[in-house]
Amino acid sequence: MKVVIDTDPGQDDAVAILLALASPELEVLGVTCVAGNVPLDLTTLNARKICELAGRADMRVFAGADRPLARDLVTAENVHGKSGLDGADLPAPKMPLQPGHAADFIVETVRREAEGAVTLCPLGPLTNIALALRQAPEIAGRLAGIVLMGGGYFEQGNVTPSAEFNIYVDPEAADIVLKCGAPVTILPLDCTHGALTTRARVTAFRALGTPVGDAVAGLTDFFERHDRVKYGIEGAPLHDPCVIAYLLRPGLFSGRHVNVEIELASPLTRGATVVDWWGVTDRKANATFIRDVDAAGFYALLTERLARLPAR
Ligand code: BDR
Ligand code: CA
Repeated sequence: MKVVIDTDPGQDDAVAILLALASPELEVLGVTCVAGNVPLDLTTLNARKICELAGRADMRVFAGADRPLARDLVTAENVHGKSGLDGADLPAPKMPLQPGHAADFIVETVRREAEGAVTLCPLGPLTNIALALRQAPEIAGRLAGIVLMGGGYFEQGNVTPSAEFNIYVDPEAADIVLKCGAPVTILPLDCTHGALTTRARVTAFRALGTPVGDAVAGLTDFFERHDRVKYGIEGAPLHDPCVIAYLLRPGLFSGRHVNVEIELASPLTRGATVVDWWGVTDRKANATFIRDVDAAGFYALLTERLARLPAR
């Protein structure tokens, strides 16, 4: 399966990229970066650090949007630390950023590859994807699908009471993606809040005894501490790797094909995902909304795959 990962690393983005690069079922055509958890200069830096950690200095990494389509950028250093990758001390990358804009790369790639070959995997605000769709709406019909992390319904919000970060930051972009006509699958908070980085799971990463294992243990430990201190719970949700795990093992997940709309107007509920879970409207289903994950299966897969990445 050919994928483009669109990302704002972010500890959980970093683990998602590593999972993808460790998985032979996936051919990562490129990594496109967006402003989100931290500003664009840091997400582009962090994405390259992670590719080099995985031994993939050959990966093409592109810079995309440095702000949402119609709003001021909101970042999340309170969760991810100042660098976006706090918890792991990775060397400055040597690999270059590719010339050109992420959205142009997405358009060119989808046009070049066979129809139905490319899956887009957005792990951050959807700005780059929306820019690509605006520029070339016909690419929606050529995609295998868009599998994204964002939103929430039963577990509504993590940045406001009613909105999840990726959708909140750029709701207009999310609206464009949901209306584009491509098959969309959403891994929302409802699902990712089941995939917690407990102490035992962090210990299993460290026990790999490799640079990747150490880095992932450090990153997830940082994440875990944030939620332990702030919310008093053991384990933080490892959101973004759920997208990659879904591609690899869809049987670990369950959800419904439903209508999902984005709240754009209300300042109180900006970026809320309005999910017709019970089919109470006649609005057409436009997304598969995942509610549950087999967390033990997910962490077993993740740990087994990370163990494959180079020891040095
Ligand atoms: C999402 O927001 C970011 O903080 C994470 O990287 C994830 O993509 C979770 O709401
Ligand atoms: Ca992210």
